[in-house]
Amino acid sequence: MNIGILTSGGDAPGMNAAIRAAVRTAIYNGIKVFGIRRGYQGMIEGDIFPMQTTDVSNIIQRGGTILKTARSKEFTTDEGMKKAFDQLKKHDINALVLIGGDGTCRGAVHFFEKYIIPAVVIPGTIDKDLTGTDYTIGFDTAVNTAIEAIDKIRDTADAHDRLFIVEVMGRDAGYIALNSGIACGAEDILIPETITHIEEVLCKIESDERRKKTVHIIVVAEGDDFGGSKEVYESIITRFPTLDVRTCVLGHIQRGGSPSFADRVLASRLGYAAVNALRDGNTQVMAGVVNGNVVFTPLTQVIKGEIPITEDMLEMIKVLAV
Ligand code: F6P
Repeated sequence: MNIGILTSGGDAPGMNAAIRAAVRTAIYNGIKVFGIRRGYQGMIEGDIFPMQTTDVSNIIQRGGTILKTARSKEFTTDEGMKKAFDQLKKHDINALVLIGGDGTCRGAVHFFEKYIIPAVVIPGTIDKDLTGTDYTIGFDTAVNTAIEAIDKIRDTADAHDRLFIVEVMGRDAGYIALNSGIACGAEDILIPETITHIEEVLCKIESDERRKKTVHIIVVAEGDDFGGSKEVYESIITRFPTLDVRTCVLGHIQRGGSPSFADRVLASRLGYAAVNALRDGNTQVMAGVVNGNVVFTPLTQVIKGEIPITEDMLEMIKVLAV
């Protein structure tokens, strides 16, 4: 068996740890490994090279991905997929480990409808928006990065008696906003999974002002249904023109940096499990961790996950922000 390994979509801290684990597990089992650079695009272009154990030395602590990554439009076309398949054949690659998020999974499902290649996906995305796993590689680090930034912003908010709107990543998912917001004691958390009633947000600010609560942090997911930090800012400043309000978009700092222990361990477990699964003939699955155990979900059943936010959780956020 010759395994090709790639990272695709947005980079996520811990991807390198997953590459390291997959490469070393393969070589330990006498399996040849090839790195495919820049995700599906590199597969199409044949940017493929053999990997040894030393190629993955000293990378477990590094953010980004040594294999580089890309979002490939060409791979969504029949011609692109054909070129990619031809390159795999040319390099004698007959199994794949694909590390990425929902776009990577969707790409894989379409590809395997046309071409049969044993494959295992490892969930790597800061958004944590996939079913079939409790955590995705990169999420824990991204939330910790957001927390560190929001804590610092709170110092300034406190010093100046300011209201801050902090926008965190999450195109369609509020996991980063929800968790960083709770962990930083945000006064409000706006996420795409719940309908944002801006009037309620404004009422809360009004009542906080009346009670002389001068520090106010609102964490908003970039994909919130009401809009991002810009829209929230406009509404607040229109209603309270004298309020000292600032916005801060955390952006891509959430994607980089050294992975947390949780992401390194998760990535190591999933990289190891993915190669063992291929070796044992368990293919066209995503390897995930559910309740602490490695589980495999058929790729066709992996979908963009809905945040399991309960009424109780929403109530808790309200109570703790009093
Ligand atoms: O999917 C991860 C993510 O960081 C999203 O949270 C964000 O919306 C998107 O990627 C940004 O993508 P890009 O870096 O390609 O602009």
